[in-house]
Amino acid sequence: MRRIPIIGGNWKMHRGTPEDAKEMLEEFIQLVKDIENVEIVIVPPYTALSVVNVVKNTNIKIGAQNMYYEDKGAFTGEISPRFLKALGCEYVILGHSERRDIFKEDDDLINKKLKKALLMELNPIVCIGEHLEEREAGKTKDVIRTQIEGTFKDLTKEQMIKIVIAYEPIWAIGTGKTATPDQADEVHQYIRDLLNEKYDNETAELVRIQYGGSVKPTNALELFQKSNIDGGLVGGASLNADSFSEIIKAAENSN
Ligand code: PGA
Repeated sequence: MRRIPIIGGNWKMHRGTPEDAKEMLEEFIQLVKDIENVEIVIVPPYTALSVVNVVKNTNIKIGAQNMYYEDKGAFTGEISPRFLKALGCEYVILGHSERRDIFKEDDDLINKKLKKALLMELNPIVCIGEHLEEREAGKTKDVIRTQIEGTFKDLTKEQMIKIVIAYEPIWAIGTGKTATPDQADEVHQYIRDLLNEKYDNETAELVRIQYGGSVKPTNALELFQKSNIDGGLVGGASLNADSFSEIIKAAENSN
């Protein structure tokens, strides 16, 4: 089954003013305007989400880095999915390891956010992945299984196939240490096996699974050529128009 690769540019807490975001995007739009068959999503900080207007009528979509699971209320500092929808956001990242580790988000909270995002028709990109100590202790698969069971609890098949999973080994994020294509593909295959066990083969084949963790123009193609890897979630290398467009082109060439 053919899945369309999806590349997300997770800007984290960088390029957070509309001017700074626009500067990158104006250059980037030109570099990727002829790309087909790759879904491109830029995920800036909330304060720069107004760039939905800059990418209007292009092949670039905009996502948010997080959201809360309520529509409105006394939740100081939180952002409602309704606000994101109203702005024109199409995607939302949930459960990034920085949210899990620094801000103590657990599978249960991520599951609540995920159900709400689906209800609001915001396309979720849900991150999972193991710490270095867990990999070294041979526990990668246990960690992935627990995260999948908790994060995707009580979802129907119809909901599951709308989700993009980002497998991001935490030891590879921002460290310059990438998982080898074989290491990544092995975990992606395991995730498909779990989806097959939990749902069916069709679901396992339809869900897109991105790899994240030090994706760069120099390693993108060999990662994306792996049969279970459907693009990437890119941090550092997505901040620059040249490097990010090269990664997008690698995804196009991997088809
Ligand atoms: P990185 O970040 O590409 O800078 O390693 C990836 C991510 O955290 O999504």
